[in-house]
Amino acid sequence: MSSSLSARRSRLAAALALDDALLVVGAGHPVALPEGSDQTYPFRSHAEYFHLTDRECAGGVVVFDPRDGVETGWVSFVPAVTEAERVWEGRRQTEGTDLNALAGWLEARRGRPIAGLGAPPVDLAIDGALSARIREAFSHARRVKDEGEIARIRAAAAATAAGFATLAPLIRPGQSERALQIELEAGFFRAGASRPGYGTIIGSGPNSAVLHFEPSERRLRDGEFVLVDAGAEIDRYMADVTRTYVAGTPSGFQRDLYDVVLGAEERAIARCVPGAEWKALHLATAVDLVSGLVSLGVMRGQPESLVEQEAHTLFFPHGVGHMVGLGVRDGSGLQPGRLKDPRPSLRTLRMDLPLAAGYVVTIEPGLYFIPPLLTDPARRERFQACVNWPLVDQHLATGGVRIEDNILVTSGSPENLTRAIPKRW
Ligand code: GLY
Ligand code: MN
Ligand code: MN
Repeated sequence: MSSSLSARRSRLAAALALDDALLVVGAGHPVALPEGSDQTYPFRSHAEYFHLTDRECAGGVVVFDPRDGVETGWVSFVPAVTEAERVWEGRRQTEGTDLNALAGWLEARRGRPIAGLGAPPVDLAIDGALSARIREAFSHARRVKDEGEIARIRAAAAATAAGFATLAPLIRPGQSERALQIELEAGFFRAGASRPGYGTIIGSGPNSAVLHFEPSERRLRDGEFVLVDAGAEIDRYMADVTRTYVAGTPSGFQRDLYDVVLGAEERAIARCVPGAEWKALHLATAVDLVSGLVSLGVMRGQPESLVEQEAHTLFFPHGVGHMVGLGVRDGSGLQPGRLKDPRPSLRTLRMDLPLAAGYVVTIEPGLYFIPPLLTDPARRERFQACVNWPLVDQHLATGGVRIEDNILVTSGSPENLTRAIPKRW
């Protein structure tokens, strides 16, 4: 095992404060495709297991007994590779203790509470409340990225930049969303990506207002927005980037809307400093976006007051970002001890915590004309005075703009890990 992995385990062991409890973290098992073929969905070890082992190992279980020491208390149990796996998949035996020995390890510690993380073996008597507490502490402890993790996120960001560099010159009327996806992802792979980190999102014209639009055969038309949200993954670490382009010539309104989002994004990035409260950062970004909409004549009123009334959610219905790294949402969530803020406008905010040096977060403000929200009679009535509805009606097919970068919080200025991907046009 590498020294950095062993250091990571020791750091986690200290952070979990297990007292006398045992920790059992399972990788999980492949899930068969429903067709009854002998294929499975692509297997990926549970992120909690991967974080402790740095490997894909179906059926693997890593355990920790605090009585045996923060460094020496860990044992990694792995299943014996079968002949069929060798023949059909070319699998090799993973290093570790035979999984059959797990029962004896547990037996020798019988009666002690067990915290189960990842996808723990189903026949274990897991303590649910204890597991929830340990999972919260585990997620929190892995929010600060170590050097090896940051190196992988940088590599994923570089491959992502290569894909976007391939894509950008191809944005023109007549191209289909699907053709763009193919070139973008080919660019990721050529630059060393293991796979796209999540389903690539490409929406043109009105589709750019669908937050997670799957690329279709639709062809771009002159003067339409094209929103591209995608990231390369390398060794399980990924980037999550959005750029919005215009096919052909942008209108004055598109430029203005874009500049509002870009300005809000850059201000939000500058706010990513240790101690910054994520919720406050989100709301400040909402105020910036609303100020822009007021100056464009789309909204009416005083920006802070409009945000207090939740009117921003008409055009900015998602959160300002989330953590990214080992998974597209990585360790997002709540600071230990906090409860989810019940305000409806914060329902889609994926985190409530203060930032700290070593966190990697996305910053992804957006403004969209989303017909299901903007034609909803209840919203029209509630926000009657806040919005220039005739102007909104003119723009119901305009789509939307999102700009997303990945930011490393440091003790100094925030570092934009995806700054190599151009966003000025
Ligand atoms: N790629 C999905 C997101 O931005 O959260
Ligand atoms: Mn994204
Ligand atoms: Mn994102």
